[in-house]
Amino acid sequence: MFLNKDEESLNLYMTFFKEIKTKDGSVTYHNQEFDDYYHSISVGAVEEATKKYVAPAKLKENATILDFCFGLGYNSLASIQKLRKASITGLEIDEEILEKISQVSVPKEYTKKYEIIKKASKEALEKKVYKDKNYDIRIVLGDAKKSVKELETGSFDAILFDPFSPKKNSDLWTKDVFDECFRVLKQGGVLTTYSYARSVRENLKNAGFKVYDGPVLGRRSPSTIAVKEAKTF
Ligand SMILES: C[S@@+](CC[C@H](N)C(=O)[O-])C[C@H]1O[C@@H](n2cnc3c(N)ncnc32)[C@H](O)[C@@H]1O
Repeated sequence: MFLNKDEESLNLYMTFFKEIKTKDGSVTYHNQEFDDYYHSISVGAVEEATKKYVAPAKLKENATILDFCFGLGYNSLASIQKLRKASITGLEIDEEILEKISQVSVPKEYTKKYEIIKKASKEALEKKVYKDKNYDIRIVLGDAKKSVKELETGSFDAILFDPFSPKKNSDLWTKDVFDECFRVLKQGGVLTTYSYARSVRENLKNAGFKVYDGPVLGRRSPSTIAVKEAKTF
């Protein structure tokens, strides 16, 4: 079969972003380059963001949040669903996934807040920061390994750390990256992530974090909560 140029790029686009409906009705995608899913497909994608990321981060009003690997923005969505006011920085390398957000629909109870995520990703593509009276959302496009180095020391209450799997996106699960995460967190700040891999937890510990089991959801193993514990001396 021969395809014209438009059909070819559409075909490429379709195979790059294969849509999958998860258990709570929210959609996720398969990314062909990384050969991995944007979310766990054994639970709902928005449910995962809420229960594995936002709940264990114990976010308080006016929290400063680093959404490390923004993707479809579900971790930011779950954050603003919970908080009336927040300041979010998202790190993301892929412009195409930010473009994709405009076509994504989420379960009904999230649609109002997802409109904000849609506006924020549109602003990011125009190199602007989203700001309303309750939220400011700045998405930094580029390699998170570099972008994180530009962030201010001790400026975040929480990091929602969500790259593709440690096998597929191994460049982001390193001690060097966790050193930077530790640096940018406030004392007492928390990093939450779905991975429970031993090597990931070792890298977190070596960067200075205290590591705890997070919630169990859709599988037998827990997720991970890493805390920059306040010094007691
Ligand atoms: C598991 S998905 C994130 C899912 C996201 N939290 C959501 O709610 O949709 C991983 C994301 O990491 C991004 N990514 C991979 N390598 C990256 C890098 N070096 N720097 C920044 N983002 C990266 C991918 O483009 C993808 O959007």
